[in-house]
Amino acid sequence: LLEIVKTKHSLRSQLQHYRTQQLRIAFVPTMGALHAGHIALVSHAKKLADVVVCSIFVNPTQFNDPADLEKYPRPIEKDIALLQDARCDVLFLPEVTEMYQPGEHWHIELGGLDDVLEGLHRPGHFQGVTQIVKKLFDAVQPDVACFGQKDFQQYKVVAYMIASLHLPVALEMCPTVREPDGLAMSSRNIRLTPQGRTQALALYRTLLQAKADLGKEGIHSLQEAARQTLENSPGIRLEYFVVYDADTFVEADSTVTGQRLVALVAAWVDGVRLIDNMLL
Ligand code: PAJ
Repeated sequence: LLEIVKTKHSLRSQLQHYRTQQLRIAFVPTMGALHAGHIALVSHAKKLADVVVCSIFVNPTQFNDPADLEKYPRPIEKDIALLQDARCDVLFLPEVTEMYQPGEHWHIELGGLDDVLEGLHRPGHFQGVTQIVKKLFDAVQPDVACFGQKDFQQYKVVAYMIASLHLPVALEMCPTVREPDGLAMSSRNIRLTPQGRTQALALYRTLLQAKADLGKEGIHSLQEAARQTLENSPGIRLEYFVVYDADTFVEADSTVTGQRLVALVAAWVDGVRLIDNMLL
Protein backbone atom coordinates (compact mmCIF):
# COMPACT_ATOMS: atom_id res chain seq x y z
CA LEU A 1 0.00 0.00 0.00
CA LEU A 2 1.29 3.44 -0.93
CA GLU A 3 2.01 5.64 2.07
CA ILE A 4 1.68 9.35 1.27
CA VAL A 5 3.66 11.78 3.45
CA LYS A 6 3.83 15.54 3.13
CA THR A 7 6.40 16.59 5.69
CA LYS A 8 10.07 15.75 6.20
CA HIS A 9 9.22 14.89 9.79
CA SER A 10 6.62 12.25 8.92
CA LEU A 11 8.85 10.94 6.12
CA ARG A 12 11.69 10.46 8.58
CA SER A 13 9.57 8.60 11.12
CA GLN A 14 8.08 6.40 8.41
CA LEU A 15 11.52 5.54 7.02
CA GLN A 16 13.03 5.06 10.48
CA HIS A 17 10.62 2.18 10.87
CA TYR A 18 12.11 0.52 7.73
CA ARG A 19 15.70 1.30 8.67
CA THR A 20 15.45 -0.42 12.04
CA GLN A 21 14.47 -3.53 10.07
CA GLN A 22 17.69 -3.18 8.01
CA LEU A 23 15.69 -2.60 4.81
CA ARG A 24 17.39 -0.99 1.81
CA ILE A 25 15.79 2.21 0.50
CA ALA A 26 15.76 3.29 -3.17
CA PHE A 27 14.66 6.77 -4.17
CA VAL A 28 13.10 8.13 -7.38
CA PRO A 29 12.75 11.94 -7.42
CA THR A 30 10.22 13.36 -9.91
CA MET A 31 8.17 16.43 -10.67
CA GLY A 32 5.03 14.37 -11.33
CA ALA A 33 2.89 14.13 -14.47
CA LEU A 34 4.18 10.58 -14.42
CA HIS A 35 4.57 8.46 -17.55
CA ALA A 36 6.11 5.09 -18.41
CA GLY A 37 9.64 6.58 -18.13
CA HIS A 38 9.08 7.45 -14.48
CA ILE A 39 7.40 4.11 -13.81
CA ALA A 40 10.40 2.29 -15.32
CA LEU A 41 12.56 4.07 -12.71
CA VAL A 42 10.22 2.86 -9.94
CA SER A 43 10.35 -0.71 -11.30
CA HIS A 44 14.14 -0.58 -11.51
CA ALA A 45 14.29 0.83 -7.97
CA LYS A 46 12.17 -2.09 -6.71
CA LYS A 47 14.83 -4.50 -7.96
CA LEU A 48 17.59 -2.64 -6.12
CA ALA A 49 16.02 -2.23 -2.69
CA ASP A 50 13.32 -3.38 -0.29
CA VAL A 51 11.54 -0.04 -0.07
CA VAL A 52 10.93 2.45 -2.88
CA VAL A 53 10.38 6.11 -2.10
CA CYS A 54 9.20 8.42 -4.88
CA SER A 55 8.90 12.19 -4.55
CA ILE A 56 6.67 14.50 -6.54
CA PHE A 57 7.71 18.13 -6.22
CA VAL A 58 7.52 20.73 -8.98
CA ASN A 59 10.72 22.47 -7.97
CA PRO A 60 10.38 26.23 -8.57
CA THR A 61 14.13 26.97 -8.39
CA GLN A 62 14.96 24.91 -11.48
CA PHE A 63 12.49 26.70 -13.78
CA ASN A 64 14.19 29.62 -15.49
CA ASP A 65 10.91 30.45 -17.28
CA PRO A 66 8.00 31.37 -14.92
CA ALA A 67 5.47 30.46 -17.63
CA ASP A 68 6.94 26.96 -17.87
CA LEU A 69 6.55 26.54 -14.09
CA GLU A 70 2.99 27.85 -14.29
CA LYS A 71 2.06 25.50 -17.16
CA TYR A 72 3.76 22.43 -15.68
CA PRO A 73 1.08 19.69 -15.53
CA ARG A 74 0.03 18.53 -12.04
CA PRO A 75 -2.32 15.51 -12.39
CA ILE A 76 -1.79 14.32 -8.81
CA GLU A 77 -4.68 11.82 -8.55
CA LYS A 78 -3.55 10.04 -11.70
CA ASP A 79 0.06 10.04 -10.46
CA ILE A 80 -0.95 8.45 -7.16
CA ALA A 81 -2.86 5.71 -9.02
CA LEU A 82 0.18 5.00 -11.24
CA LEU A 83 2.51 4.77 -8.23
CA GLN A 84 0.06 2.44 -6.50
CA ASP A 85 0.01 0.18 -9.58
CA ALA A 86 3.81 0.25 -9.71
CA ARG A 87 3.84 -0.87 -6.04
CA CYS A 88 5.79 2.14 -4.87
CA ASP A 89 5.95 2.14 -1.07
CA VAL A 90 6.20 5.79 -0.06
CA LEU A 91 5.26 9.00 -1.86
CA PHE A 92 6.84 12.18 -0.53
CA LEU A 93 4.65 15.09 -1.58
CA PRO A 94 5.91 18.28 0.07
CA GLU A 95 4.67 21.85 -0.35
CA VAL A 96 7.17 24.50 -1.46
CA THR A 97 7.40 25.88 2.12
CA GLU A 98 8.41 22.42 3.35
CA MET A 99 11.48 22.47 1.07
CA TYR A 100 12.55 26.15 0.92
CA GLN A 101 13.05 29.07 3.25
CA PRO A 102 12.03 32.42 1.73
CA GLY A 103 14.99 34.13 0.05
CA GLU A 104 17.26 31.11 0.27
CA HIS A 105 20.50 31.55 -1.69
CA TRP A 106 23.32 29.05 -1.87
CA HIS A 107 25.38 27.52 -4.55
CA ILE A 108 26.88 24.11 -5.27
CA GLU A 109 30.13 24.03 -7.22
CA LEU A 110 29.49 21.83 -10.27
CA GLY A 111 32.88 21.91 -11.96
CA GLY A 112 31.58 23.82 -14.98
CA LEU A 113 29.05 21.07 -15.86
CA ASP A 114 26.34 23.70 -15.34
CA ASP A 115 27.92 26.14 -17.82
CA VAL A 116 27.25 24.13 -20.99
CA LEU A 117 24.24 22.87 -23.01
CA GLU A 118 21.20 22.84 -20.69
CA GLY A 119 23.11 24.99 -18.20
CA LEU A 120 23.88 27.57 -20.85
CA HIS A 121 20.35 27.65 -22.30
CA ARG A 122 18.63 27.51 -18.92
CA PRO A 123 20.69 29.72 -16.57
CA GLY A 124 20.42 28.59 -12.95
CA HIS A 125 18.64 25.38 -13.90
CA PHE A 126 21.24 22.97 -12.49
CA GLN A 127 21.70 25.04 -9.35
CA GLY A 128 17.96 24.58 -8.78
CA VAL A 129 18.17 20.86 -9.58
CA THR A 130 21.10 20.21 -7.25
CA GLN A 131 19.59 22.31 -4.45
CA ILE A 132 16.42 20.23 -4.44
CA VAL A 133 18.14 16.90 -5.02
CA LYS A 134 20.47 17.61 -2.08
CA LYS A 135 17.50 18.52 0.13
CA LEU A 136 15.59 15.43 -1.00
CA PHE A 137 18.61 13.17 -0.38
CA ASP A 138 18.91 14.67 3.12
CA ALA A 139 15.22 14.02 3.78
CA VAL A 140 15.10 10.47 2.37
CA GLN A 141 18.69 9.31 3.03
CA PRO A 142 18.37 6.61 0.38
CA ASP A 143 20.89 3.82 -0.20
CA VAL A 144 20.44 4.26 -3.94
CA ALA A 145 18.79 6.86 -6.21
CA CYS A 146 17.55 6.28 -9.78
CA PHE A 147 17.73 8.86 -12.56
CA GLY A 148 16.82 8.63 -16.25
CA GLN A 149 19.23 8.80 -19.18
CA LYS A 150 16.65 11.11 -20.80
CA ASP A 151 18.23 13.92 -18.73
CA PHE A 152 21.82 12.85 -19.33
CA GLN A 153 23.42 16.12 -18.23
CA GLN A 154 21.30 16.11 -15.07
CA TYR A 155 22.65 12.65 -14.30
CA LYS A 156 26.23 13.91 -14.77
CA VAL A 157 25.56 16.93 -12.54
CA VAL A 158 24.05 14.79 -9.76
CA ALA A 159 26.98 12.33 -10.04
CA TYR A 160 29.38 15.26 -9.67
CA MET A 161 27.56 16.58 -6.60
CA ILE A 162 27.52 13.12 -4.96
CA ALA A 163 31.26 12.71 -5.58
CA SER A 164 32.30 16.19 -4.51
CA LEU A 165 30.19 16.24 -1.32
CA HIS A 166 30.89 12.55 -0.60
CA LEU A 167 27.16 11.87 -0.29
CA PRO A 168 26.49 8.30 0.88
CA VAL A 169 24.17 7.36 -1.98
CA ALA A 170 24.69 5.10 -4.99
CA LEU A 171 23.49 6.45 -8.32
CA GLU A 172 21.74 4.43 -11.04
CA MET A 173 21.04 5.55 -14.60
CA CYS A 174 18.01 3.99 -16.32
CA PRO A 175 17.57 3.94 -20.12
CA THR A 176 15.29 6.44 -21.84
CA VAL A 177 11.76 5.12 -22.34
CA ARG A 178 10.28 6.06 -25.72
CA GLU A 179 6.87 6.12 -27.36
CA PRO A 180 6.42 3.32 -29.95
CA ASP A 181 7.49 5.75 -32.71
CA GLY A 182 10.67 6.74 -30.84
CA LEU A 183 9.76 10.07 -29.23
CA ALA A 184 11.35 10.21 -25.78
CA MET A 185 8.61 10.28 -23.15
CA SER A 186 8.34 13.61 -21.35
CA SER A 187 5.78 15.31 -19.15
CA ARG A 188 5.89 18.18 -21.66
CA ASN A 189 4.83 16.03 -24.67
CA ILE A 190 1.15 16.53 -23.84
CA ARG A 191 1.58 20.22 -24.71
CA LEU A 192 2.43 19.33 -28.35
CA THR A 193 -0.24 19.72 -31.04
CA PRO A 194 -0.77 16.65 -33.27
CA GLN A 195 1.36 18.37 -35.93
CA GLY A 196 4.11 19.24 -33.44
CA ARG A 197 3.98 15.71 -32.09
CA THR A 198 4.86 14.44 -35.60
CA GLN A 199 7.49 17.12 -36.22
CA ALA A 200 9.16 16.29 -32.89
CA LEU A 201 10.15 12.86 -34.23
CA ALA A 202 12.98 14.56 -36.15
CA LEU A 203 14.99 14.64 -32.91
CA TYR A 204 14.97 10.86 -32.51
CA ARG A 205 15.50 10.25 -36.22
CA THR A 206 18.53 12.55 -36.29
CA LEU A 207 20.06 10.84 -33.24
CA LEU A 208 19.60 7.44 -34.91
CA GLN A 209 21.20 8.79 -38.10
CA ALA A 210 24.18 10.13 -36.14
CA LYS A 211 24.63 6.73 -34.50
CA ALA A 212 24.51 5.05 -37.92
CA ASP A 213 26.98 7.59 -39.39
CA LEU A 214 29.58 7.05 -36.69
CA GLY A 215 32.38 4.96 -38.12
CA LYS A 216 31.51 6.08 -41.64
CA GLU A 217 32.03 9.75 -40.91
CA GLY A 218 34.11 11.86 -38.56
CA ILE A 219 32.50 13.29 -35.44
CA HIS A 220 32.67 16.83 -36.79
CA SER A 221 30.94 16.06 -40.08
CA LEU A 222 28.20 13.90 -38.57
CA GLN A 223 27.52 16.67 -36.07
CA GLU A 224 27.29 19.20 -38.92
CA ALA A 225 25.00 16.90 -40.94
CA ALA A 226 22.70 16.44 -37.93
CA ARG A 227 22.50 20.21 -37.36
CA GLN A 228 21.67 20.75 -41.05
CA THR A 229 18.94 18.12 -40.95
CA LEU A 230 17.34 19.64 -37.87
CA GLU A 231 17.65 23.23 -39.08
CA ASN A 232 15.80 22.16 -42.25
CA SER A 233 13.11 20.19 -40.38
CA PRO A 234 9.70 21.88 -40.45
CA GLY A 235 8.51 23.20 -37.09
CA ILE A 236 11.88 22.64 -35.37
CA ARG A 237 13.94 25.45 -33.84
CA LEU A 238 17.29 23.89 -32.94
CA GLU A 239 19.17 25.00 -29.82
CA TYR A 240 22.02 22.54 -29.96
CA PHE A 241 23.13 19.22 -31.37
CA VAL A 242 26.52 18.11 -30.05
CA VAL A 243 28.62 14.98 -29.69
CA TYR A 244 30.24 14.80 -26.26
CA ASP A 245 32.54 12.43 -24.44
CA ALA A 246 30.00 10.66 -22.22
CA ASP A 247 32.46 10.35 -19.33
CA THR A 248 34.22 13.71 -19.19
CA PHE A 249 31.23 15.62 -20.63
CA VAL A 250 33.25 17.85 -22.93
CA GLU A 251 33.12 18.04 -26.71
CA ALA A 252 34.32 14.80 -28.28
CA ASP A 253 37.83 14.90 -29.66
CA SER A 254 37.95 13.07 -32.99
CA THR A 255 41.66 12.30 -32.53
CA VAL A 256 40.99 10.25 -29.40
CA THR A 257 39.92 6.62 -29.75
CA GLY A 258 37.98 4.43 -27.38
CA GLN A 259 35.94 7.19 -25.79
CA ARG A 260 32.26 6.66 -25.01
CA LEU A 261 30.28 9.18 -27.05
CA VAL A 262 26.88 10.70 -26.49
CA ALA A 263 24.92 12.89 -28.91
CA LEU A 264 22.71 15.45 -27.18
CA VAL A 265 20.00 17.59 -28.72
CA ALA A 266 17.65 20.37 -27.60
CA ALA A 267 15.03 22.03 -29.77
CA TRP A 268 11.79 23.95 -29.63
CA VAL A 269 8.74 22.39 -31.26
CA ASP A 270 5.36 24.11 -31.06
CA GLY A 271 6.51 26.36 -28.22
CA VAL A 272 7.62 23.29 -26.25
CA ARG A 273 11.29 22.77 -25.46
CA LEU A 274 12.35 19.14 -25.95
CA ILE A 275 15.63 17.37 -25.17
CA ASP A 276 16.92 13.94 -26.12
CA ASN A 277 20.22 12.08 -26.34
CA MET A 278 21.72 8.80 -27.47
CA LEU A 279 24.90 6.91 -26.68
CA LEU A 280 26.64 6.42 -30.02
P1 PAJ B 1 11.26 14.78 -14.02
O1 PAJ B 1 11.41 15.51 -15.28
O2 PAJ B 1 9.90 14.51 -13.48
O3 PAJ B 1 12.03 13.42 -14.17
C1 PAJ B 1 12.17 12.55 -13.06
C2 PAJ B 1 13.11 11.42 -13.45
O4 PAJ B 1 12.53 10.68 -14.53
C3 PAJ B 1 14.47 11.93 -13.96
O5 PAJ B 1 15.50 11.10 -13.47
C4 PAJ B 1 14.33 11.80 -15.46
O6 PAJ B 1 15.57 11.63 -16.14
C5 PAJ B 1 13.48 10.56 -15.57
N1 PAJ B 1 12.80 10.48 -16.87
C6 PAJ B 1 12.02 11.43 -17.46
N2 PAJ B 1 11.62 11.02 -18.68
C7 PAJ B 1 12.15 9.79 -18.87
C8 PAJ B 1 12.12 8.84 -19.94
N3 PAJ B 1 11.45 9.07 -21.06
N4 PAJ B 1 12.80 7.68 -19.78
C9 PAJ B 1 13.51 7.43 -18.64
N5 PAJ B 1 13.58 8.28 -17.60
C10 PAJ B 1 12.91 9.45 -17.71
O7 PAJ B 1 14.19 15.36 -13.65
C11 PAJ B 1 13.38 15.88 -12.87
O8 PAJ B 1 12.05 15.57 -12.85
C12 PAJ B 1 13.81 16.92 -11.85
O9 PAJ B 1 14.86 17.66 -12.37
C13 PAJ B 1 14.20 16.31 -10.49
C14 PAJ B 1 15.41 15.38 -10.60
C15 PAJ B 1 13.01 15.56 -9.87
C16 PAJ B 1 14.58 17.46 -9.50
O10 PAJ B 1 13.54 18.36 -9.36
